[in-house]
Amino acid sequence: MTLVEEIQNLKKEKDAVILAHYYVNDEVQAIADYIGDSYYLAKVAVGLKEKTIVFAGVKFMGESAKILNPEKTVLMPDEKADCPMAHMAEIERIEEVRREYDDVAVVCYINSTAELKMHSDVCVTSANAMKIVKSLPNKNIFFIPDENLGRYIATKVPEKNFIFNDGYCHVHKNVTADMVKRAKEAHPEAEVLIHPECTLDVLEYADYIGSTSGIIDYATNSDKKEFIISTELGVLYQLKQKNPDKTFYAAGSVQICPNMKKVTLEKVRDCLRDGTGIVEVSEEKKEMALKPLQRMLELAK
Ligand code: 13P
Ligand code: SF4
Repeated sequence: MTLVEEIQNLKKEKDAVILAHYYVNDEVQAIADYIGDSYYLAKVAVGLKEKTIVFAGVKFMGESAKILNPEKTVLMPDEKADCPMAHMAEIERIEEVRREYDDVAVVCYINSTAELKMHSDVCVTSANAMKIVKSLPNKNIFFIPDENLGRYIATKVPEKNFIFNDGYCHVHKNVTADMVKRAKEAHPEAEVLIHPECTLDVLEYADYIGSTSGIIDYATNSDKKEFIISTELGVLYQLKQKNPDKTFYAAGSVQICPNMKKVTLEKVRDCLRDGTGIVEVSEEKKEMALKPLQRMLELAK
């Protein structure tokens, strides 16, 4: 029996479904039942009929799925696959900002720990942050943990006063404006598609800025034949599947997330077979982190 057949059999036996983010290894994306950006995966996790969710992604994704579906078993193929940015904000700073500004909303990028979510008013993803921030009644927005996404959204919602935090995604921060400029010089016909976790000077080169799903949809619907991609290179798998006649260039060679790449087919098989990697979230965290996640799903509709 092949590894893939073993996983298919175990899925039936354990009544499980596999969710995968676009940044995990190609062979894991290939066996997933649902694949998407962070917003799609959070939405799709709600209302699945299977008892068990295997989350091929990083810890904050598994945690969010568990918080939204407390009655389900959520398994992470690699429990050490964690997003460093998810930890890059301080509860003390949130409390300080709340004392300093009386009309403030703490807007928490979903790439965050359950603990940070607990202290926030609403969650967002790169796909819905603009819409949600615009719809909030508050004048002041404390955007955590990602400074780059916060600064990008601030340019789109000038009527709000933003307070930034200094978290970042090391994968996207490693892409420099010079890299994108050189890629554009080498491929002048190509459209430049950039994730908003990149810095503002990089975003200046973009023909399109959006989430991983947004980037894939844009390239798929574009009449152009060549694209420069500035996000984690796992997206190339779906881009090529959906657009076999188009050419994709990486803006640089550094766009690999080591944590997403920890998820392998063997680990998916092992967690299903052995019931390992169970995501545990305390009752208090489940209750308090659910509110900003539910508010996101409501406001993003
Ligand atoms: P999206 O897929 O929501 O664009 O998120 C990108 C990311 O960095 C996930 O870790
Ligand atoms: Fe975190 Fe960046 Fe990896 Fe996404 S790509 S999981 S934001 S480190």
